[in-house]
Amino acid sequence: MRHLIDPTDLSMQELNEIIDLALDIIENRDKYTEACKGKKLATLFYEPSTRTRLSFTSAMLELGGTVLGFSDAKSSSVAKGETCADTTKTISCFADIIAMRHFEEGAALVAAQNARIPVINAGDGSHSHPTQTLTDLLTIKREVGRFDNLTIGFCGDLRFGRTVHSLIKAMSRYEGVKVVLIAPEQLRLPSYMKQEVCDKNNIPYVEVSSMEEVMGDLDILYMTRVQKERFLDEDEFDRLKDSFILDPSKLKNARPEMRILHPLPRVNEITVDVDADPRAAYFRQVENGKFVRMALIMKLLEWAKDDSKTIDLIPADAVKNEYVCSNKRCISNLENVDSYFRPRTDKPGKFRCVYCESKAKL
Ligand code: CP
Repeated sequence: MRHLIDPTDLSMQELNEIIDLALDIIENRDKYTEACKGKKLATLFYEPSTRTRLSFTSAMLELGGTVLGFSDAKSSSVAKGETCADTTKTISCFADIIAMRHFEEGAALVAAQNARIPVINAGDGSHSHPTQTLTDLLTIKREVGRFDNLTIGFCGDLRFGRTVHSLIKAMSRYEGVKVVLIAPEQLRLPSYMKQEVCDKNNIPYVEVSSMEEVMGDLDILYMTRVQKERFLDEDEFDRLKDSFILDPSKLKNARPEMRILHPLPRVNEITVDVDADPRAAYFRQVENGKFVRMALIMKLLEWAKDDSKTIDLIPADAVKNEYVCSNKRCISNLENVDSYFRPRTDKPGKFRCVYCESKAKL
């Protein structure tokens, strides 16, 4: 079975097929109105969402399919204590494809291990959000016209911002990409991202403390909100929530062709008077999310029939050992799942959790 759990689950050829299909859907909407006739998408959302859930719903309806699911896990048997694994086995009896958002990191991977149908990770905690990445890539394609030789500034909550993690992973596969990290010290990019994504793929990155000092260098400014729901200490959130606010004055030195992206929702990190700037692409980005999810649903349903498209969910070099995951929000610490760890490339003899990529500890 084929799933989408991490953006790099897709080969470059598959990724290009999805982007090309999304572009064709934009040009020829009528051609696809029955592409998923008779198929059912289950949207299992354990965390709030506007764009992801409703764009998946809109995508499936526009393809002629139907949608079932829940937008609040409290209204499902999860409230009675059902595990992610059992819920997924159950939904496999009712639907043809699942889009799941979960607050536990690694939940989508556990769902995929237990499903008889394709599972799409619609966001797992602060870990990963691959369909936002597809949305971002389609937006970059349409707005900038290329993926190579881009300098991308990521600003805001780079620690908990799953969309940032997934997009950096995806961009690390292109030539000449440079990453500028603009975040307060407490919200910096996790070390696994720096060491095992940027360093491993020779992606140069710099960490800076203001957006003004780098604005003129950027092809893309990727803004993010500070993720209140991930903080264990509310006072710390209050101290950090206004760290970076983009307003028209900060765009003075930005290039005319630079584009501002944001996965949304926005809180206050972009003032509303930026919206009218032609460089502000974040609401166009939202619409791209629907088209690219249409393409993804079509491709995963097609690949589900092709055994050669199956990929290993647990990497071949993963081991079961005496370690545990150091991340309290990881599903391996919250539900009854088999733990797996991968050897770290940056520290021989040490391991990372397969579910959430956090460090393993004894
Ligand atoms: N970008 C995104 O994931 O938005 P939602 O949380 O509204 O789905």
